[in-house]
Amino acid sequence: MTESNSRNSLYRLIYASSVAPGLDFSIVKSILENSEKNNTRDGLTGALVFEEGFFMQVLEGGREQLTKTFGRILRDERHSQVCLIEFASCLERRFSGWGMRYLGRQEDVFEKVTGSGTFKPKDWTAERCNDFFVRFIALAG
Ligand SMILES: Cc1cc2nc3c(=O)[nH]c(=O)nc-3n(C[C@H](O)[C@H](O)[C@H](O)COP(=O)(O)O)c2cc1C
Repeated sequence: MTESNSRNSLYRLIYASSVAPGLDFSIVKSILENSEKNNTRDGLTGALVFEEGFFMQVLEGGREQLTKTFGRILRDERHSQVCLIEFASCLERRFSGWGMRYLGRQEDVFEKVTGSGTFKPKDWTAERCNDFFVRFIALAG
């Protein structure tokens, strides 16, 4: 693969982190708004889950932009113990058109997607995390 090809390739990054104490949904809302703005500018798409004291986020886009954005996210004090789950090349986006989509407990989709209903992304394999996003889209649209 040439340098220009690898630069243009699509990558997917997934991580999980622990939500900072006292952080409520109004702060998550402002993170989503800011992410939507920045990610649209940077050609990134993705989704964020905020549940049971954890964040899990998937980001899709160019390798350099993903690395820069993840660097900012790592330094953000609104969460801690960031655990990188996957950083891999991929063939297509799952969240096309979404600068940052929020995935929450809508109807019974969450329970169906997690199986048990509990959300413990740091204990999940990369495969299970990917499966979570794929199944969520399939059920919630
Ligand atoms: C859980 C979480 C997810 C975030 N996701 C993104 C994101 O997708 N894109 C982004 O630009 N910033 C994201 N941020 C915010 C960054 O950490 C940082 O505050 C922001 O990029 C700074 O942008 P600004 O220079 O426009 O203020 C996230 C922060 C947290 C805590």
